Amino acid sequence: MINGMEETYRDFLGQMGEEAFLEPYKAACRRVEEKLNRINTTVSQKKGRTFISQITYRIKTPESCLDKVIKKKCAVKRQTVQERFDDIAGIRVVCNFLEDIYRLVEILNKDKELQIIKVKDYIRNPKESGYQSLHVIVLVPVEGFERKKVEIQIRTRAMNFWAVAEHCLVYKRPKEQKENLWLPAIFRAFSSHIKGREGSHPGSLHDFGNSVKKI
Ligand code: GTP
Ligand code: MG
Repeated sequence: MINGMEETYRDFLGQMGEEAFLEPYKAACRRVEEKLNRINTTVSQKKGRTFISQITYRIKTPESCLDKVIKKKCAVKRQTVQERFDDIAGIRVVCNFLEDIYRLVEILNKDKELQIIKVKDYIRNPKESGYQSLHVIVLVPVEGFERKKVEIQIRTRAMNFWAVAEHCLVYKRPKEQKENLWLPAIFRAFSSHIKGREGSHPGSLHDFGNSVKKI
């Protein structure tokens, strides 16, 4: 920690960990999770196969918020975090096929309660690291509070496998450590192999006919 900032950082960490601050974000996550579960049941039934295979959520830890305000050089204030960060509340959705990701966004877009404020398509335009995912930032109504931002990351299973591994082995490492590392190159190569491989469910490809068993 930089000298003289200890007290500011300590206060900030305390504020970011207060239950009164976190609870509305948790409520927003629960609300979106319920919606996703309902969508999954309906669409899976209609398609005769699993639409969403995993839904998880997390609230950003105070320590991670502090790292990010320092990295982004913004004011060490709770209000700044609330206004500028999209990912205090984050939900991750793993779909089985690429087409399902875009179908899910269409469904979310029609939901009258949610307001999509940003879409980042790192599938059509992967990050330099090779990271692929579709991020949808939504505003979610929460009883007794103003609407809360939730970042929904939607990926296929292969993209998720890649992202989870790269996150701890490369993404979260300090910059100096990344430069001399061979791992980023391996991950970039691996990412391009994933691309396009999880396109359509076999049942929707004419070539396979009806002989392919639905999963
Ligand atoms: P962060 O400060 O990391 O939250 O990024 P950001 O607010 O500038 O937004 P961005 O869309 O770049 O990233 C949002 C989130 O996507 C991150 O918190 C990660 O969970 C994920 N992400 C983005 N880039 C990468 C990457 O290169 N590798 C991995 N594993 N995850 C990534
Ligand atoms: Mg983030």
